[in-house]
Amino acid sequence: MADAGEIASPVQELLDEVHERIGEITDGSVATYIPALGKADPKLFGLALATRDGHVYESGDTGVPFTIQSVSKPFVYALALHDRGLNAVLRKVGVEPTGEGFDAIRLEAGTGRPLNPMVNAGAIVTASMVDGDDWGQRFQRILDGLSAFAGRDLSIDHEVLASEERTGDHNRALGYLLRNAGTLDGDVDEALSVYFMACSTLVTARDLAVMAMTLSSGGVNPLTGRRVVGTDTTEHVMAVMATSGTYDFAGEWLLRSGLPAKSGVAGGLAAVLPSQLGIGVYSPPLDARGTSVRAIAACQELSSRFGLHLM
Ligand code: DON
Repeated sequence: MADAGEIASPVQELLDEVHERIGEITDGSVATYIPALGKADPKLFGLALATRDGHVYESGDTGVPFTIQSVSKPFVYALALHDRGLNAVLRKVGVEPTGEGFDAIRLEAGTGRPLNPMVNAGAIVTASMVDGDDWGQRFQRILDGLSAFAGRDLSIDHEVLASEERTGDHNRALGYLLRNAGTLDGDVDEALSVYFMACSTLVTARDLAVMAMTLSSGGVNPLTGRRVVGTDTTEHVMAVMATSGTYDFAGEWLLRSGLPAKSGVAGGLAAVLPSQLGIGVYSPPLDARGTSVRAIAACQELSSRFGLHLM
C-alpha cells in the first residue's frame, strides 16, 4: 500500500486490488508431509512484482520468510547449466514433462535420466552437478547462487531442514534409484543433504520476484546489476519452467496464465514474463497438486489484467 500522502502508481493500485480480491479465497490446505511446514499461517499472502529497472511493487506479506522448496529448482538448474554446460546436464537430466506429480518415481527408459529438472528426481541430480569438490562446497555454491539471484544473503531454516531430513525417505528412495541407474554419482545421503538444504533456503515473496526478474532479464540481477548466469542459460531455464514448472498442472497453468513459473510446497511461486517482469507470490494453502491456490489465482488475474499472456 502507498503511504498516506504518496501518490500510488496505477501498477501498485492494481496489485493491491488483486491482492485484496484473491486474499478472500480460503481454499486449499497447508502442506504437512514435511511436518514443520504445517506450522505456517494459512492467512499469509504476499504478492510482489519486480520490473527490469529494479523497481519492486509489493502488496501484503511480502517480507515474511518461508522456505523456497521447489521454487529453488529452476535456479539450481541454472547454476548446474552455468557450471557444467547444457550438454553435460542434458546427459543426466531430460527436459520432457512428466504428466505426474513432483515426487514421481519415474526415470526415462534406456537412459535412467529423470524426465526434467523440476521434479524432485531431476533436482536431486542438478543439485549434485553444481561446482564443488564435496557436498559442503556444492551446498555453499547453491546458497551463494540463490543469494545472487535474490540480491541479498539468504540463509537456511534449520527446523524445516531437520524435519525434511527426518521424513525424506521418498526422496532418499529416488536417490538410490538414481544411483542404481548410474545417473547420480557418489554418496546418496550427501546428495540428498544438498537437495534438502537448497529446499530449506529462506526467501520472501519479494525475493522470489527479484529472483524471477533476474531470470527474466537474461541473468542480470535488477537490484545489484550483477550477472549471475548467461542469457542462454536463462532461456533454457524459462523454457523448462513453461513446460514442467507446475508438474501435472503445467499445461493448464500455461493456458491460463501464459507465464513460465515454478511452485513450491511451502506456498511460494515465482513467475516470469521474459525481458519484462518477475512475479513472486507467497500463500501457504495448496491445491491437491501442491501449488498455492492463491498464487494460481493471483497470477491468472495479473496476467489478464496486465495482458501478460505470452501467447
Ligand atoms: O522434496 C520435497 O518434497 C520438497 N522439499 C519440495 C517439494 C516441492 O516444493 C514441490 N512443489 N510444489
